[in-house]
Order: sequence, then structure tokens, then C-alpha cells
Amino acid sequence: MTAEAPRKILITSALPYANGPIHLGHMVEYIQTDIWARFQRQRGHDATWVWASDAHGTPIMLRAEKEGTTPQALIDAYYAAHKADFTDFRLSFDNFHTTHSDENKQCAEGVYLKLKDAGHIAVRTIKQLYDPEKEMFLSDRYVKGTCPNCGTEDQYGDNCESCAATYDATELKNPVSQVSGATPVVRDSDQHFFQLGNFTEMLQEWTTSGKLQPEISNKLNEWFDSGLQDWDISRNAPYWGFEIPGSPGKYFYVWLDAPIGYMASHLNYCNRTGADFDSVWAVGSDTEMYHFIGKDIAYFHTLFWPATLHGAGYRKPTGVFCHGFLTVDGAKMSKSRGTSFEARTYLDHLDPEYLRYYFAAKLSTGVDDIDLNLEDFTARCNSDLVGKLVNIASRCASFITKRFDGQLADALPDQALFDTLAAEGEAIAADYENRNFASAMRRIMALADQANGYIADAEPWVLIKDESKLTEVQAVCTQGLNLFRQLVTYIKPVTPDIAAKAEAFLNIEPLAWEDAATPLLSHGINKFKPMLTRVEPATIEKMREAAAPPPEAPVLTGPLADDPIKDTIDYAAFDAVDLRVALITEAKAVEGADKLVQLTLDLGGQTRNVFAGIKSAYTPEDLQGKLTVMVANLAPRKMRFGISEGMVLAAGPGGSDLYILEPNSGATPGMRVK
Ligand code: 2FM
Ligand code: ZN
Repeated sequence: MTAEAPRKILITSALPYANGPIHLGHMVEYIQTDIWARFQRQRGHDATWVWASDAHGTPIMLRAEKEGTTPQALIDAYYAAHKADFTDFRLSFDNFHTTHSDENKQCAEGVYLKLKDAGHIAVRTIKQLYDPEKEMFLSDRYVKGTCPNCGTEDQYGDNCESCAATYDATELKNPVSQVSGATPVVRDSDQHFFQLGNFTEMLQEWTTSGKLQPEISNKLNEWFDSGLQDWDISRNAPYWGFEIPGSPGKYFYVWLDAPIGYMASHLNYCNRTGADFDSVWAVGSDTEMYHFIGKDIAYFHTLFWPATLHGAGYRKPTGVFCHGFLTVDGAKMSKSRGTSFEARTYLDHLDPEYLRYYFAAKLSTGVDDIDLNLEDFTARCNSDLVGKLVNIASRCASFITKRFDGQLADALPDQALFDTLAAEGEAIAADYENRNFASAMRRIMALADQANGYIADAEPWVLIKDESKLTEVQAVCTQGLNLFRQLVTYIKPVTPDIAAKAEAFLNIEPLAWEDAATPLLSHGINKFKPMLTRVEPATIEKMREAAAPPPEAPVLTGPLADDPIKDTIDYAAFDAVDLRVALITEAKAVEGADKLVQLTLDLGGQTRNVFAGIKSAYTPEDLQGKLTVMVANLAPRKMRFGISEGMVLAAGPGGSDLYILEPNSGATPGMRVK
């Protein structure tokens, strides 16, 4: 036990979305959390780490639909895969739950109703884009169109990547639903807003009282300066999430129930273990609560989340710890460059201890990005973990087991050196506490250099040849192994497997922090077994190959280069498309449309109204009386100018080079095209 009284600590990591694999970018945060949690426990504190799958939201709903599965099946599969990755990375979490759970429903409804009762929820009617084909409201990310400010095409519904203007999705010109391709319409919708502005004073105080990193509180000032906006916490059906109590057809926005997932996972943990839930979440709780997150989601955790908790009568976080992103070889991770490594790909090739150490050696208190360079990774793990740390034990062990029956001497020959390592313990602990793991690793490796220097000077492998020096060999090796034990104590939160192997080899109980202050003497140890081997460049190459993108398609020239052939369809899909010859009985210009011509098509018994984008090639007069081929069974689509009941086929690169059938082709209206 340390001099400090034991602290009660609740720790969380950000909840991974249950619709994609875990990659090494995620692992930065989880490893950071794990090291900190393990450190706290090793210091004798009561640290509980809870988190969950982030299992709600539109992307999950649409992804399941695309894959022909259900959201439940999708999130279940990712839950299992994520948990296996975390376990194999030696993450010491106490509970990994899901936001799609009874506990989260209970907590989210409870929080919402308390906020509502306290007058923090307002219901307002707003205008939103609606996809008439898919019959759903479209969030900003699901609609693209032309920027109302600068005219750049293909921009999302919230801001323009070209001119940085922010706008409402309803202001986009020529909007297109990214879900169905239909033209959205504007519809009124009642939404529930959390009135964040009610908490401005509290948040200003909370965010500047040392709970956040300075970079983050400075950033928050910008938001305070522009005034805190109400936050829309509701979404319309269809939505994959929890329905809002008392509001049929309205669901909690995923970002409302995601952080409440921290609470729900803790509730599930308490129900499972008998730990006390209420005292942790009550105002004035004596449990510290910390959230580890990426800097990109600071807004949610430093404004919405504390305000939600406060408004619902719960305690607020003690601290929010933000980290930067992971780059690989100095650049953003990229699938096409083969630098996006999935956690499982790493685990298939390398021991988690290396990555845990490498990240620890790079992580400090700030929000800077950290870089993974695989050559540097190899060199660092081999030189520090294998060359400096594990090597101490392997240099001393065999003399003790072979010549002294595994017995350590009863005194240290260099107590001063032992004391030097013991004295550094509190500085290393302070580094861990402040999440300055890079500094802790530098201190530990500097001490390892001293330990190796001691053994190199003492040369037990030379002394052993002189029978009169045997006692000295035992003493030197006892010193070496004691220094090793101190170093392992300090690095244990980072490399738990090495620590477990060292504890087995030294025949000792799990190392507590204060063990580094007392030497291990007159004690029998076990036979040394290798604890970690070197990282081989060939293994790194194999991992790179496994992460490499599929081979690139051959370089194409001609029309296929700019307009590649789409994914293969099966015969049934082809057969479902009913192509017919149609006679253009009437063609007119469409007012306000640059590209469209309105066609009346005779199918030999039925007529169709079709808007065709062929104005650049034909005037209406050119078209009248000509034959074309149309998709006769395409579902009607609502366009800005009316309903379009099919598509005509035209060949050519576009512009004035577009071709439809000539009347003298011998075709007749209604004829099937095969
Ligand atoms: O950004 C993300 O990946 C989110 N799934 C994080 C949620 S953290 C918390 F708020 F639940
Ligand atoms: Zn723009």
C-alpha cells in the first residue's frame, strides 16, 4: 500500500461503434486507459474500468440493411469480435457492455425524464429533409448537394468542404439522398432539444477548474464565445435506438444514449458484482470518475455530458483525458496505402506487449498525435524491452539456478544502486498518474541502463571461472535480479505479461508498487524461461502484407478509365430490369433545369412521363418522333419538377455526344430489348 489512502476510481474509455473492426488507432486509447487502470490498482487503489459497444444509430441500421442482416445480429457479431480483441490485448476492463441493453434503456429514460421534469427539454418544429423513397428523414451526412454559398457540387448537408460555409441541409441546391438517390423534400418535424444554454455558467466554471487539459479548455472558450446552442437529442423513425418515452416515433439520438452507456455498463457491473451504484453517481460522490477519449469527441464529453449529468441531478466527471490520433509513418492511416492495421491483424503476428510498450513510450499528457513507424517500433522494442529489460534476468539467472540451487544471497553488494532505483519510484508514479507514460518509460530505461552497466562492470561470467569468487557471483547476480525486479515493478502496468512471467520466475506474489523499496534476499527462484523474443523484421513484413489492400485493378484507358464498370450483378438482377423500345411522342424543355428534357413515351399501349438528362445532346424538336430504349419497370421517382416514371437509355460520353435509337432501326414501341 502506498502512503496515500486508497482512492475509489471509475474509469471509462470511449465506446467503439459496433459496426466495424477495431484498428490500432482505437488501441491507443484502450492501451492508455489500461495502463492507467493497472497502475492505479498496483498502487492499491480501487479502480473499476467499465465501457461498452456503441450500438445505436443510422449507420448501424443502414449497414445491417445493406448486408441483408438485422441491426441486432450486426452489433452482436461486432460485440464478440471487439471483446476478443480487447481480451487478447490484455486489457483489464471490469465490464464491457452494450448501449443496446436493458440497463441503458433504463438509464437513458431516467436521465431524459429528469431533464424534462427540470424543464431542460424543449419540443420545437423544424424543417428537415425527407427521403420520399426510403420514407425517412435524412441527417446531414445522408444528403449531398450543391453548396448554397459557392456552388461546389457534391457537398454534405452541414458544411462545404470547398468554402467551409456551414448551412442547414434544407439550403443545399439540388439535394440528393445518399440513401436512395431520390430528391429529398422538406418536411416539418417535431424534435426534442436539450437546452444546453441553461448550463452555460456551470460549464464555464467546470471547464476551467483544472478538470481538462489546457488545449481543450481553450478550445471550449470558442464555443462559449459563440453561445451554447440547443442540442437536438431526438431522431425520427425509422431509427435504431430507444424510443423516447411519451413520444411515439421519436428516438433518442445515438449521442444521447452513448455516454449514458458508461452509467449503464457500471449499473450492469454493480448488478453482477454487488458493488454500489448509487453512491458513485450521486452528487458529492467520493468516487473519482475519469473518461479517456479522443480529442475529436471532446465537445460531447466536456459540454453535453457534464450538462446532462448535472441537469439530471447526478455528479459530474472528475476529469476528461483527451488524446491525439494515431498516424502511421507520419500520415493518416490509410487502407489503400496498407497502413490501416486492424487489431486482429496485429495480434495474428505480434505480441501485444510490444505495442503496449511502444504506445506507452509515445504517450504524454497532451493531445498531440502519435506516430507508429514500424522500423522504429522494431528497433525500440528490441533495444528496450529485450536488450535492456529482459536481458538483465537472462544474464543473471542461470548462475543462480545452476550454481546456487536457485538461492539468492542474503545481502546486496551495492545497496546504494538498489536505493537509487527505489528512490525513483515516486517520480515514475507521478508520471503514470499524470499520464506522462513517455517520461515514465524514459526513467525506467535510464535505470535499466544503470542496472546493465552494473552487471557489465561486475562480469559474473568471468568471476564464475574462479572458484574463490563464487560468493561474489551469487551476490552480483542477486543484485542484478533485484534491480530487474524493481524495473519490472515499475513497468508492470505497461507489460503485464512480462511481469507475470517475471513473478513466476522470481517465485513471488504479484508485485505491488511498494515492493520496489525492499530487496528480495535469501529466497529460492525458479528456472529462467525466455520472457520475450526480438521482433523480427520478417514478421513485420508479413503483417504489412496481411494489411495490404487487394491488388489494384489493371490500369484502364478509354471510357472505362473514368467510368469503371460497376460491381457484377447476378442474372436475376439483370432479368429484373425490363428494357423496352419506346416512341418519343412529345419532348419539352423543363423550366429551371439545365440538363433535363421532359419526354412522353409511348410503349405501344401505355405512356410514361420521364425526365431525361439529355438536353446537352438534343433539342426537344430533335427528339420528337424518335425511338429510344427505356427501363420500363423502374419505380417512379419524385424529382423537383415532377414524377419521373422510368429512364431512357442513351449511349455516349455526354455533352453533345449522346445517342438514342433512330426511327429506321426497325424497332417498334413496346418491343422487349434483350
Ligand atoms: O466516436 C465514437 O467512436 C463514439 N462511438 C464514441 C462514443 S463515447 C461515449 F460517449 F459513449
Ligand atoms: Zn461552398
